[in-house]
Amino acid sequence: MARRKKIYEGKAKTLYEGPEPGTIVQYFKDDATAFNAEKHAIIEGKGVLNNLLSEYFFTGLNNVGVPTHFMRRLNMREQLVRACEIIPLEVVVRNYAAGSMSKRLGIAEGTQLPRPIIEYYYKDDKLSDPMVTEEHIAAFGWASQQDMDDVVSLALRVNDFLSGVMFGVGIRLIDFKIEIGRVWENDFARLIVADEISPDSMRLWDVETGAKLDKDVFRRDLGSLTDAYTEVARRLGVMPKGQGIPGKPTLIN
Ligand code: TMP
Repeated sequence: MARRKKIYEGKAKTLYEGPEPGTIVQYFKDDATAFNAEKHAIIEGKGVLNNLLSEYFFTGLNNVGVPTHFMRRLNMREQLVRACEIIPLEVVVRNYAAGSMSKRLGIAEGTQLPRPIIEYYYKDDKLSDPMVTEEHIAAFGWASQQDMDDVVSLALRVNDFLSGVMFGVGIRLIDFKIEIGRVWENDFARLIVADEISPDSMRLWDVETGAKLDKDVFRRDLGSLTDAYTEVARRLGVMPKGQGIPGKPTLIN
């Protein structure tokens, strides 16, 4: 008995047709993947945490005037978002060297970069999301030059917002990935921040201890991913101290 039409199933989320035209229901699964899904696990409660955290970040962005796809959270695992055409790029912003940049350029993880650096990866699992330049993006028509100006501006605004919010709760925003969508208003296209913003798509290090509070805990087997995400949620006031995650009996603190 299909409750509604499934549009797309990704690694961590499933998209369903929304209740009104132009809307989509985004369902957050408990699946964790890394290294292009070579590593996979079900982590109970992760979907709930990412739904709540993504709601928190997108609401904040909407409030400071950064346009996003987020409309409202529907329940513990689902949110209503505006349908958009996703530009097939992963837009990565880095403030400190880590991960693939450290490996590629031989820069120690945690080295502060002289300024935020934006990178683009072409979204294609078969190719393991290869890095591309604006030359590829323009030549293959994935986005126009005007689009790319807007992408840079959105990426830097998101970076400033997230860096500030995270620093306020003692967490350093090392890097993150966003996806950008295109919406049509009459004949005009406008770009908005889409997909999700959660510890799955960011690197978050405790300012004091350097402890990792993001998906690297899973990628590198550093401990409990749920505990790390719950800590982020608790500090942001998304999950009040002592409140457990539905489906996970353990109480935090
Ligand atoms: P990287 O260092 O592996 O290139 O990752 C940079 C940032 O992008 C990091 O915060 C994790 C995020 N990211 C994703 O959200 N999805 C991905 O598929 C990859 C490779 C990275």
